[in-house]
Amino acid sequence: MKSAVIARLATLLCVLTLTPVITHAQPAEPYPPLVLGTAWYPEQWPESRWDADLELMHKAGITMVRVGEFAWSRFEPSEGHYELDWLDHAVAAAGRHGIYVVIGTPSAAPPAWLTQKYPETLRTLEDGRRDQHGNRQQFNWANPKYRQLSRDMAEQLAKRFGHNPFVIGWQIDNEYANESYDEATRAQFQAWLKDRYKTLDNLNTRWTTSYWSETYQSWDQVPIQTKYGNPGLLLSWKRFVSDTWRSYQKNQLDAIRAHSDRHQFITTNMMGWFDGYDHYTVSQDLDLASWDDYVGQGQLDRYSNGAAHDLTRGFLRKNFWVMETQPGAVNWQKINNALDKGEVRAMAWHDIGHGADAVSYWQWRSALNGQEQYHGTLVGTDGTPVPLYAEVAQLGKEFVKAGPTLAGTSVRSDVAILHSYDSRWAINWQRHNNTYDPVAELVSYYKPLRDLSQSVDIVNPSAPLTQYKLVVAPGLNVLSDAEAKNLIAYVEQGGNLVLGQRSAMKDGDNTLQTERQPGPLVSLLGGRVDQYYALIDPVPVSGDWGTGTSQQWAELLSTKDPDTKVLMRFGKSNGWLDDQPAAITRKVGKGSITYIGAYLDPASMTKAAKWMLDMSNVQPKLGTVPEGVDVYPREGPHGKVYILVNFATTPQTVTLPTSMQDVLNDTTTTTVTLPTYGVSVLTPTR
Ligand code: GAL
Repeated sequence: MKSAVIARLATLLCVLTLTPVITHAQPAEPYPPLVLGTAWYPEQWPESRWDADLELMHKAGITMVRVGEFAWSRFEPSEGHYELDWLDHAVAAAGRHGIYVVIGTPSAAPPAWLTQKYPETLRTLEDGRRDQHGNRQQFNWANPKYRQLSRDMAEQLAKRFGHNPFVIGWQIDNEYANESYDEATRAQFQAWLKDRYKTLDNLNTRWTTSYWSETYQSWDQVPIQTKYGNPGLLLSWKRFVSDTWRSYQKNQLDAIRAHSDRHQFITTNMMGWFDGYDHYTVSQDLDLASWDDYVGQGQLDRYSNGAAHDLTRGFLRKNFWVMETQPGAVNWQKINNALDKGEVRAMAWHDIGHGADAVSYWQWRSALNGQEQYHGTLVGTDGTPVPLYAEVAQLGKEFVKAGPTLAGTSVRSDVAILHSYDSRWAINWQRHNNTYDPVAELVSYYKPLRDLSQSVDIVNPSAPLTQYKLVVAPGLNVLSDAEAKNLIAYVEQGGNLVLGQRSAMKDGDNTLQTERQPGPLVSLLGGRVDQYYALIDPVPVSGDWGTGTSQQWAELLSTKDPDTKVLMRFGKSNGWLDDQPAAITRKVGKGSITYIGAYLDPASMTKAAKWMLDMSNVQPKLGTVPEGVDVYPREGPHGKVYILVNFATTPQTVTLPTSMQDVLNDTTTTTVTLPTYGVSVLTPTR
């Protein structure tokens, strides 16, 4: 009781002493290099409660709150009447507690008056029904009226907060996800096609519409198809969707830019492996990529989650933010188990290791009503900490301690994996084997490459590649001419390219390549795919990478060029594949090109990865570590930093290659012993 009184007094004193700073103010310092944040919804609580919440945040080392992203009905209670004073008070209150603010534009949750007055702003579902008020994301992203209203809203916010020194950035909307299938949107799609294909003859040829009498004689005949349809049409719709999200975003982004300080970043929170639109297209206008990282059911899968981090880092090819992550548990899975004690902290360091500069928990406190009453939080309904709060507070201290060492550092990899939405969509539309998941395929390559090299970038096939010693393209099913040129140039300049199964089957229109796979890379490879086979049972493979199996898929390869070598062969299976090449490689000057036609089992994939790294001369960034220990190297102008996290179920000891400063413990050491979920931040002693 006594300590509670002292704490309250301390809060009051702190508030009183800091009050004068608020109004004219500048924050005492720029925002920290490692940001610990939370989603805060001041509009759900009386203003008299805010200081207590902010003080508790401050005590946990929280330095950022994201606010406002669903508050449209509070910002604009009726058309054209804006009420932003409350947010001004909330931002000032946060500033008093040394907490910076990211403002979300509220367009993911339009108010009832808006969609009632302008029903065309509601999206139309694929079955023709109109969505309704009461959830979120019910808006039509292509509708001009909705764009005007959401732009006006964003502009009001930017005019008011664009130069507020406590506001460090903007999040546009929230998790773009839903399209609309109304007639006006379809007309926009048809106009988009006309702009892209110019003539119907061109479109008909490139989509081979003589098939099933699909030929179009006027643009308004073209339908929207999303799952089963002409592959050229399916891909075009997805590209239209992506471009429309980009212009939807730009509409608000331009309004914010026009009225805000250039130091305020603009981002949107994306969703890891979600493939509703091409994230490379949508990211290009942003200052910062960010994503919402939820484990959901089970425990953290450090490979698929780590790859999702690397994917997000690849959108703008620089550090990113984790704008939302779960404080323990979510509410939307079949079983919403909590992460283990220590796992939330371990996950935060895994995020930072992959290049995140911020980790922000969704959410601070549960709204008393609303759809997410069961979701994890940092304080309970009574406004006092839940058990996890202490773990987050530990992170808060650690972020302060390690911040200066990690400031200005980023991830630098020798290995890149190529990822393309076109290819993922194309495979998913025609999996041919229903168990074939292109993300799982990518992760099957990622896992051993990450373990053995300790750092992997994931970038799109048109990204600059010359900095990489090894580029691996699993399932690069759709390969445009420009992308093919990029890959050929990379190999000819001495790079090592490895193509995984199902690569380069289609061109940029999702049309089959006439040279068979890998299309424009056949002559560079000096070989090709003669036939592909969907498999019910795994088939044996053997060769330079030992003996193992190919699962789900097998591509019978052939070599034409005498320099092209066979690395692996299929064993006895369906007769067609027996003893035929399963992986081939060819040296091209100082570079090389390899094609793997087998979907290798994990042990064989590890050997294949070792071969790829050895021939490309890639070393592990830190050196060998015990199984279960993840190494996350970051580099900056002042040298290297290694974050280690132990995900094994027993303590592990890592012998370091040189003497290092243990940043969190203020010691110098040549070995570290980590308990399960233990973390170490190390930098070589100078
Ligand atoms: C995210 C969303 C948040 C919250 C969270 C719950 O997808 O952006 O607003 O709903 O899920 O896990």
